[in-house]
Amino acid sequence: MKHHIWLSLTLFGLLLQGACDSTSPIAVDSMQTFSTGALSGGETTVFDESSHAFSVPAPNLSAEALAKHLEGDVEFEAVFVTAPAVVNPGLGPVYNNVSCINCHARDGRGRPPRTNEELVALLFRLSLPQTDSVQEGKPPMPVPGFGTQLNNRAIVGTPPEGTVQIDWTEKPLTTENGTRVHLRHPNYTLTETYRPLPADVEVSPRVAPAVFGLGLLEAIPAEAILAYADEADSNGDGISGKPNYVWDVVQQRNTLGRFGWKANQPTLLQQVASAYHDDMGITTALFLLENSVGQYPDRNESPSATATPEVSDDILEVVTFYVQTLAVPARRNVDNSQVQQGERLFAQAQCASCHVPTFRTGVLRGVPSVSNQTIHPYTDLLLHDMGPGLADNRPDFHASGTEWRTPPLWGIGLVQRVNGHTNFLHDGRARNLMEAIFWHGGEAEASRRAVERMSQAERDALIMFLESL
Ligand code: HEC
Ligand code: HEC
Repeated sequence: MKHHIWLSLTLFGLLLQGACDSTSPIAVDSMQTFSTGALSGGETTVFDESSHAFSVPAPNLSAEALAKHLEGDVEFEAVFVTAPAVVNPGLGPVYNNVSCINCHARDGRGRPPRTNEELVALLFRLSLPQTDSVQEGKPPMPVPGFGTQLNNRAIVGTPPEGTVQIDWTEKPLTTENGTRVHLRHPNYTLTETYRPLPADVEVSPRVAPAVFGLGLLEAIPAEAILAYADEADSNGDGISGKPNYVWDVVQQRNTLGRFGWKANQPTLLQQVASAYHDDMGITTALFLLENSVGQYPDRNESPSATATPEVSDDILEVVTFYVQTLAVPARRNVDNSQVQQGERLFAQAQCASCHVPTFRTGVLRGVPSVSNQTIHPYTDLLLHDMGPGLADNRPDFHASGTEWRTPPLWGIGLVQRVNGHTNFLHDGRARNLMEAIFWHGGEAEASRRAVERMSQAERDALIMFLESL
């Protein structure tokens, strides 16, 4: 367990930095014009800017909680195989990958495949258009034979459902002040499908996001998030912000969605159980039927809902605890004047209207380390219309085909170091932070135009600020 060695180093570093760094401002002011300081994750912050920066346990865990976290870490890395096997059986029959870590490498984010690479950390959700006249608020409608996700791998004897070919089109853009930039637009073709897909299939590409700091996001009280919702845009700033409400299988009712690119999962427990089920074909108490069951209306299946889950409640719990208690890396260079200029420009360009810098967490039961913390995630966890350029045209509960959840920006400056790439946005199409900004449309149109009007020096400062997160 590599953690033990550098964990103590990290804790030592934290103490040292804490001791000498008396100037670093820890502003709790939510009106976000000036520095939010270095402690992005409150007391869960870790001073680590290495390639392991996303994999550090929260430094404020008790010894017992740390042991549970480390158990979860082992399970997060566990490679599943076909049943029957002694260790980690139950993979498939159809799946996308064999372990959590394979998609969330170093607890960080994935990227789209490069030429001739297989699909690894990019998956494709599928559905059929709703037939009902009421479209909004519905769970995605499964595609016969495929369900709601394209599983591009399968165990021996079962055909994979298909794969996806990605072609990139260069999309030139001349900014308002005359600079030329190039964006790349993905075109997806579903190929080698084991049976024909209906012509009206809806496809949503999603790349694996980083998994640190998530317990803090789960601990934000729903009212604090809803306070930013402004669906009718009553304050007239062009930015609405809409909560998603999604099916909670434990509570058996719709509750506020927080996780996933469309805020399509209500809790980390359910997010983790869905990952086992949808991405790996592993059953848990939350999803007891194999992911292929029910996909074949023409097959006479008699699924047994009393089957023993392939992953036990204990494992489900420690893996959930693991993603709840990964530390947030501290910001770097907070006292640099260019970074501070970038932070002001971020506020002036209205980025902070969606990427909300500061929240105070409430109490997350069983996870005291993430409770009652002042954090700087740079997200409102709400849905925003981002315009036709980014649209997947596949509604997900209350999220329309053009809406996405504001992703948190904490740690974004370390993605290159941790994951060796700078591919951003829901499908990794942006090749760097500036491209990600230039893809902003819809409610973020005015923000993008503000950046288009910036001088090169101002754009550099804005990027330096993002890289300090
Ligand atoms: C095939 C790749 C893949 C595998 C395997 C996978 N994930 Fe993910 N994960 C994703 C993608 C893609 C998303 C975004 C899904 C969405 O938007 O609905 C995601 C989202 C998440 C999130 C929510 C992150 C956020 O910021 O909202 C968590 C937590 C998570 N996964 C944990 C896990 C765990 C735990 C496992 C193993 C049990 C796992 N994942 C396996 C690809 C994967
Ligand atoms: C109307 C809300 C809104 C505004 C305003 C906004 N953003 Fe975003 N931002 C989003 C959403 C939603 C996404 C995700 C879009 C996607 O993945 O398709 C996003 C994605 C990003 C990403 C990529 C994050 C990732 O994890 O891939 C960056 C970087 C970013 N925004 C920076 C900015 C900056 C800088 C500004 C101001 C110039 C800004 N945003 C303004 C909503 C907003």
